[in-house]
Amino acid sequence: MAGQSPVDSLVPAPLIAPSILSADFARLADEVAAVQGADWLHVDVMDNHFVPNLTLGLPVVESLLKVTDIPMDCHLMIEDPARWAPPYAEAGAYNVTFHAEATEDPIAVARDIRAAGAKAGLSVKPGTPIDPYLEILREFDTLLVMSVEPGFGGQSFIPEVLAKVGIVRRLVDAGELRVVVEIDGGINADTIEAAAEAGVDCFVAGSAVYNADDPAEAVRRLRAQAAAASAHLTR
Ligand code: DX5
Ligand code: ZN
Repeated sequence: MAGQSPVDSLVPAPLIAPSILSADFARLADEVAAVQGADWLHVDVMDNHFVPNLTLGLPVVESLLKVTDIPMDCHLMIEDPARWAPPYAEAGAYNVTFHAEATEDPIAVARDIRAAGAKAGLSVKPGTPIDPYLEILREFDTLLVMSVEPGFGGQSFIPEVLAKVGIVRRLVDAGELRVVVEIDGGINADTIEAAAEAGVDCFVAGSAVYNADDPAEAVRRLRAQAAAASAHLTR
């Protein structure tokens, strides 16, 4: 990047993951192409049981994997992830995240996802405390902190969840954990800076990207905003 010093390049750039939940489902391949340059492609899988909404499943993910090189970030808002999560890894998803609230044995699910070749992610709803899960985060590559109630795009950001981000950020910075801290829900130009300052690495954005006239430009702007807001943080 122009003007970037060698020291700057040691600091990982913030990652932006557009959520296709806010895309036009009749034109998914075009909508994926519209966010070329995004770091991860966030795909929300909902089963109408874990959350009161229904989206798409493995067949659509398999088709999307054929039309993009953007690493796919599958967010499974489903019951019984032990049964349903590993096939997303086998299909070629880069990261497969499931919900802590959806299983009694998150470690087993994480191990199965990793054995199938993907990174494993744990997600927590806004009201779920992070403390009971800190120990098991060693089994995970990513932590997805929900900043809205899962189920729908276009909701308002819940700032209180940033306390959880801070707890995990400190453990990562201290070398006690190695997870990418991801946030999902209500991220836009008004909220991304607070999330970046709290220590988020990867920002999911649905409506803020797909409601923009130029989704790829919206991704670049969000990334630049997050980078500027976190530039003073020592990692
Ligand atoms: C909500 C989904 C989000 C959603 C975010 O349950 O997990 O990924 O697409 O949408 P926005 O960015 O509009 O809040
Ligand atoms: Zn999501």
